[in-house]
Amino acid sequence: TSQLHSDYLIRPIEADDYEGVVATLSVLTKVGQLSKEKFSSTVEYLKKHSDIYNTVVIVNQAKDNMIVGVGSIFIEQKIIHECGKVGHIEDIAISGEEQGRKLGYHLIKHLTEIGSDQGCYKVILDCAEKNIKFYEKCGYTNEGFEMAARF
Ligand code: ACO
Repeated sequence: TSQLHSDYLIRPIEADDYEGVVATLSVLTKVGQLSKEKFSSTVEYLKKHSDIYNTVVIVNQAKDNMIVGVGSIFIEQKIIHECGKVGHIEDIAISGEEQGRKLGYHLIKHLTEIGSDQGCYKVILDCAEKNIKFYEKCGYTNEGFEMAARF
């Protein structure tokens, strides 16, 4: 359908995106105490393993390239499905004042295309019930329930 508005750009995360990424992810969950050094080394790790990990940010070019969105997909190598691959979308966040402008839609579309380009036979994610409509608008269907063990 529509194109991403020309003010916005989706690009790979960089090691010095600390402030913008931490602020944006805070709409999703508690990021916790995180040093700049730990952030940078983690981003370097993700980038070194770019066949598995892809984290992208959306920047608003009309607002000094402020980070307004973050999202990830990681590619799981499986044995089933003839040693197929599954993409897992994780940690999607659009900053409060930018929600409702189709940025989430374009972020999911972008990450889903990465999964498809990497040869995944499906891309999956878990979400809260209140986000089901949003993911349906992104072309996803509800296939189950999330289970968790926390430590
Ligand atoms: N309920 C119903 N419809 C919705 C909702 C909702 N909660 N959110 C968006 N939509 C609809 C929009 O109205 C729009 O519909 P339209 O095309 O008919 O106009 C369509 O979905 C696309 O919406 P966007 O504008 O792209 O949504 P947005 O940019 O606000 O992003 C998101 C949605 C990511 C859920 C954002 O609101 C957000 O960051 N929320 C807080 C954090 C969060 O819940 N993240 C997702 C966690 S799940 C995970 O990470 C795998």
